[in-house]
Amino acid sequence: MTELKNDRLLRALLRQPVDATPVWVMRQAGRYLPEYRVIRERAGSFMDLCRNPELACEVTLQPVDRFGMDAAILFSDILTVPDAMGLGLYFTEGEGPRFQHPIRTEAAVRALGIPDPEQELGYVMQAVRTIRRELDGRVPLIGFSGSPWTLATYMVEGGSAKFFANTKAMMFERPDLMHHMLDILAQAVSAYLSAQIASGAQAVMIFDTWGGMLTTSDYREFSLRYMQRIVACLPREHEGRRVPVVLFTKGGAQWLEDIAASGCDGVGLDWTIDLDQARARIGSQVALQGNMDPCVLYASPRRIRTEVATILARYGSGEGHVFNLGHGVHPGIDPENVAALVEAVHELSPAYHR
Ligand code: CP3
Repeated sequence: MTELKNDRLLRALLRQPVDATPVWVMRQAGRYLPEYRVIRERAGSFMDLCRNPELACEVTLQPVDRFGMDAAILFSDILTVPDAMGLGLYFTEGEGPRFQHPIRTEAAVRALGIPDPEQELGYVMQAVRTIRRELDGRVPLIGFSGSPWTLATYMVEGGSAKFFANTKAMMFERPDLMHHMLDILAQAVSAYLSAQIASGAQAVMIFDTWGGMLTTSDYREFSLRYMQRIVACLPREHEGRRVPVVLFTKGGAQWLEDIAASGCDGVGLDWTIDLDQARARIGSQVALQGNMDPCVLYASPRRIRTEVATILARYGSGEGHVFNLGHGVHPGIDPENVAALVEAVHELSPAYHR
């Protein structure tokens, strides 16, 4: 196995000293990059791109090559898992993801099975292996999955939703059925992430995009509990190194203590909490990943640099910080502004690591 030349991300997630704060951004490979749009065009569609390991590898490396990110994140989507469960994922222009067969009945829930990661999701594992080969130890590769709750919202709604009416109706009316679905999903995600780790993912992240839509008690019961179960199932060492796990609940700042107690190594933060407060609350237990408002990238490179400086100062000196946005980079962002962000983190952060 080739040696990892830049291991800042893995060290920071384990709260070990680094020379500079590692930086990557959610959705770093995406439509805001012209070179991504070229490859997506060549692939035909977004899902064809995900299913083509060579092209998925190429777009994964684009932001690493262009910006000098400290990590690569597997190019794929959280919805590949429900797709592999037979829901028939497709994307419509302007409307986002949709499922041909949403899960609306008890029979549909009971029929759900756990996909074999090396079969139905074999194209993802092949992409992981291809990316690791092409990265050649430059930076670590992050694997990922959606949280059971977040996957369930898409599966029940059949796509994106505003109020999660169908999902919440099932949760309130038939909690037993919802728990059955979440249990299947937790097993599916555990198998999927374990296979990503076995294939070469060096850290993994669970995206709980919609956990923040729940009440505190429902969050614990329907979202966090299942993420905790996954964390407990994952192999935490591979190739002689610890494989850190990051949990990201958008809108989860009020539950930081609960999230940090889940057994994860790092907590992803959206922009609604300041890093000094988050660090005071959970920074002695876990690393923190975040948390610039993605909309700062609509401002000038100068303003972006000031915001980076503010966020680095809020976290303060010492280990345990991975710089990121509080959510994904938007499609309309000028790549030069992402370059300004990365440059600012690399130039300004060493002062906090002396
Ligand atoms: O971060 C990365 O660069 C890795 C790739 C990645 C994608 N999706 C690629 C993608 C990751 C980590 C995801 C996660 C994902 N997908 C989440 C969780 C994170 C979050 O954003 O909250 C969710 C909720 C999804 C579901 C999803 N996929 C939606 C709602 C959409 C449509 C919205 C959009 O941006 O178009 C997608 C499509 C998608 N996934 C695109 C990309 C690059 C855009 C597809 C295109 O090329 O048109």
